[in-house]
Amino acid sequence: MKIGFAKPELPKKGALVVGVMEDRKFGAVAADLDLRTGGALTRALEASRFTGKAHKTLLILAPYGVDASRILLYGMGKPEDMAPGWAEEMGGNVYAALAGSGDTEATIWLEAAEGKSEALAIAAAHAGYGALLRSYRFDKYRTKEKADDKPTLKKLTVLVEQASTAKKLFADLEAVAEGVFLTRDVVSEPGNIIYPETLAAVAEGLSELGVEVQVLGQKEMKKLGMGALLGVAQGSVREPKMVIMQWKGAPKSKEPPLAFIGKGVTFDTGGISIKPAGGMEEMKWDMGGSGTVIGLMKALAGRKAKANVIGIVGLVENMPDGNAQRPGDIVTSMSGQTIEVINTDAEGRLVLADCLWYCQDRFKPRFMIDLATLTGAIIVALGHEHAGMFTGDDGLADQLSACGREMGETVWRMPLGDAYDKELNTDSADMKNVGGRPGGSVTAAMFLKRFTNDVPWVHLDIAGVAWAYKDKPIVPKGASGFGVRLLDRLVAAHYES
Ligand code: BES
Ligand code: MN
Ligand code: ZN
Repeated sequence: MKIGFAKPELPKKGALVVGVMEDRKFGAVAADLDLRTGGALTRALEASRFTGKAHKTLLILAPYGVDASRILLYGMGKPEDMAPGWAEEMGGNVYAALAGSGDTEATIWLEAAEGKSEALAIAAAHAGYGALLRSYRFDKYRTKEKADDKPTLKKLTVLVEQASTAKKLFADLEAVAEGVFLTRDVVSEPGNIIYPETLAAVAEGLSELGVEVQVLGQKEMKKLGMGALLGVAQGSVREPKMVIMQWKGAPKSKEPPLAFIGKGVTFDTGGISIKPAGGMEEMKWDMGGSGTVIGLMKALAGRKAKANVIGIVGLVENMPDGNAQRPGDIVTSMSGQTIEVINTDAEGRLVLADCLWYCQDRFKPRFMIDLATLTGAIIVALGHEHAGMFTGDDGLADQLSACGREMGETVWRMPLGDAYDKELNTDSADMKNVGGRPGGSVTAAMFLKRFTNDVPWVHLDIAGVAWAYKDKPIVPKGASGFGVRLLDRLVAAHYES
């Protein structure tokens, strides 16, 4: 969808969106429209339960006296509510309300409560951003959808006095949206289309934006001793890949780089510890962590973030075959630590073990943040509302919690501790790859911690949030792209020069 900004003027066609404040209070725009339409707004309000409460809407069709095809009254609540996140939600809801209306164009007329025009330009940019994020659709394989069932809305213009300011602000937001869309695209793709080689190729595409991309194949990883990752991959005919992306947006900086690491299991059957058939198709999105890291690198490069950032993704397919790893196999990770593979379905941690070790060894980063659809247990604990956050670093935890609330991509801190770590001990090797059922997400995190070499580290278990099971204001049902906006914000707010 095309998003534009212009100075306030009544549109000649399409849908018009105007705000109404709480207690049915009209601002100047709504009052003027009410006059032009012979009181259509007042009568519609009287005939409905719409009172201007935040994010409620009322649609008025083909009102006499204006060129617009329809007027969507949008509940502004109390005017001081218009924070960026609020405006995003508004944009998303407006898109959803009008997407299938038949109109191809819509216009949102934003007006300030008391001449706060700078804040209004920010709100306008974010309203456009919210609408853009909500307009995402993964429909490339739907060849028979009727034209009547497809969204019609193609263009949204936000009217605001400082239109050129809004437009400038929107450029960076649009770059982040492109990162989110890339994540949603690769996470939506099925396992026969996205597998290690093809996902690595997507990452290589980022070189167009100035990201340096390096791809390790099986041979290189073998040489590096990545036995944990390779053990997972050995049951698949698809060759595993590790992709190292570098964005050098602060070439003069002496600070060590920031590092983001993603689990990229392009399909997780469970391996020999095979999963039940019901719902297994969902495991096409077990590369969600890597999808987020790739989308994040695109966002950062797209908006030319002034930071040096490493993205590393471990890409494998977890399959059962005659060559697959067996329960009880013992593998040696790049760190030298040996792992008894009790359950081949606890594969994500094996992949990440070698990614984390490689990352700290090669880059000595300021911190490592990994993202992984790691455990079903985190869904039991937190549902689909928060990602699980595991870290010993209170500063990073606070930064991520705050950014999460701002972005509507919330994280909830979970514990770490020696008592959990002990669950990983085994007589046969340095550790086993599963604890018990209790605290399954925590023992998984403790496993990862053993490969961080005490570099500041955060693990985000995104198993519950990588896929949206229902529409949300700025996230349509499907691959959510969770983490791109959160981590882009973390970088922008705290780590850019
Ligand atoms: N990819 C799964 C975790 C998962 C489950 C993600 C459901 C999204 C939705 C992971 O590889 C896995 O299979 N974890 C096991 C670990 C167990 C064997 C210790 C799990 O959670 O059951
Ligand atoms: Mn698994
Ligand atoms: Zn998995």
